[in-house]
Formats: sequence, C-alpha cells, structure tokens
Amino acid sequence: MSQDSSSPQSSRPDLDEVINVTQAHTPEATAAAAREFPNPGADKQPLSIATFALCAVMLIIGGAVLGTTSGSLFDYDIQVKPNYVRGKAPGAADDEALPPKPILDLYVKKGQALYSAKCNGCHGADAKGDGVNYPSLVGSAWSTGHTERFSQVILNGLQGPTSTGKVYGAGVMPAQGGGMSAQDLAYLMTFIRNSFGNAVGDVVTPEMAQAAIDLAAARKNPAAPVTADELKSFEKDLPGEKVDPATLVDPITLKPVAAK
Ligand code: HEC
Repeated sequence: MSQDSSSPQSSRPDLDEVINVTQAHTPEATAAAAREFPNPGADKQPLSIATFALCAVMLIIGGAVLGTTSGSLFDYDIQVKPNYVRGKAPGAADDEALPPKPILDLYVKKGQALYSAKCNGCHGADAKGDGVNYPSLVGSAWSTGHTERFSQVILNGLQGPTSTGKVYGAGVMPAQGGGMSAQDLAYLMTFIRNSFGNAVGDVVTPEMAQAAIDLAAARKNPAAPVTADELKSFEKDLPGEKVDPATLVDPITLKPVAAK
C-alpha cells in the first residue's frame, strides 16, 4: 500500500488499487475514525410523537388558563396602562389631540358602565323596572328630583314605599354604596338623571358626591335602608359648586380646557 504523494493524481487514489477495504473497516479502524470524526447525536432517538403531543396539549391548556382567568395575562388592562394615551407624532398639529367634549356627555358615558354593574340587574337595561318587583327610574321623582335624596337612596338602599307610594314586591332595595368612590357616584347619578328619557341636564360633581357619602355615614343608623319618612330630611340639593354642563373638558383627564 504505497502512495505517491508527489503526484496530484495520487491524492485521490483508486480504491480498488490502494485501499484494502476489509482492512480499512476493521473494528479498530472504525473506532479510530469515530474518535476523529465524532457524529454528535448519533446515539440519540428522535423525539417521540407522544412527548410532542403532550407538550402541545400543555401549551394549549396553559394558554387557555392564562388567557381566560380574571386579571389574566392577556387582559387589556394589564397590557395597557390605565389612561394610556398615544403620544403625538413629531410635528403633529395641536388639533389632532382628542377633541374636548361637554362634561355632561362624558359623565353620562362613564356612568353607563356603573349602572350596568350596579343597577341593571334589578331596574333593567331600560331602567323601567318591571312594575311589580322593581320600580322604574324613568321619570321617578326621587331619581330626577333633589340630588341629596337620590344619593341617599343609592348609598343606603330603600325600604318602601317608593316615591309613588307603592311598595314593590322585592320589598327592600339593598344599599349600593359599598366600594363606590365619590367620582363613581357622581358619574352614576349624572348618568341616570340624563338617560333613558330623564333629562335633568345637571352634573353631579365628585365634590357633591363626597358630601352625599359623608351624609350617609352620619345617619343615626347607617346600616338600615332609608325610608320615605327619613328621605323628607334630604329634600335638598347636595352642597358643592355647580358646574355648567356644557363646560368643555379633555375626554381623558376630564379637566376643563380653554374653548377654541
Ligand atoms: C337588588 C335589587 C336592586 C338593585 C341592585 C337596585 N335597586 Fe333600586 N330599588 C329596588 C327596589 C326593590 C326598590 C323599591 C323598594 C321598595 O318598594 O321597598 C328600589 C327603588 C329605587 C329607587 C326609588 C325610585 C322611586 O322613584 O321611588 C331608586 C331611585 C333606585 N331604586 C335607584 C337605584 C340605583 C341608582 C341602583 C344602582 C346603583 C339601584 N337602585 C339598584 C331594587 C334594587
């Protein structure tokens, strides 16, 4: 087995002539070759389809759990900061900002969700009640009349009779003030007084709503629902500076803006 390394041809020898195939494949020779040219992973099995399927199922279930439980990973509120507003593009004109709106419109819009969460279940999506168990809030004297009286019905609940003298089948309205901020109460009262056909046209401010919360806390028996009798002492409007319902405010901050 001689090799002539001086000739370029001989670097690619004819197998038949120069290599003894049997010799080249002795166990020793193969082991030596394996040491010199390791083939990583040659001893591994391919991933079994069962393992693959198991991983897929776990990802799907995991994703579903993260995606659906409340306060979940993909929640809009978690992904996007509250009150997040996209910055203006460089050079954008001022009038590309969100246009200001009358404060009354914005309060009504904000109050809608609170009504759906707190009152809808009994008084109905159209606020008309059912005439039997729950009274209508449309045209109701206590909803559209003195704000102080209206606020105390919401915050404390009501033991009938109602403004019409009628006692409804459900008997008593439970207090709704729990966990409600002054700002929320202001939105909610403004919404009811200016929706469903009610058109009082006034804005209940957070300052007024805070006064209502203080009044409720100062009642002799704050845990009991108010009655028609007790409501007579609330035939007033809530104290606080009145706001022109047409005041233009920024739709995000709700702060007044100078009219253009
Ligand atoms: C669990 C049911 C229930 C919920 C929730 C509820 N109410 Fe009532 N509401 C009643 C019942 C029942 C009455 C009548 C009480 C009676 O006859 O004793 C009533 C009466 C009223 C009245 C008196 C109407 C009138 O003219 O006499 C007002 C105002 C009112 N509710 C407002 C609200 C508002 C606002 C909310 C949401 C914050 C709300 N209620 C949530 C059951 C409910």
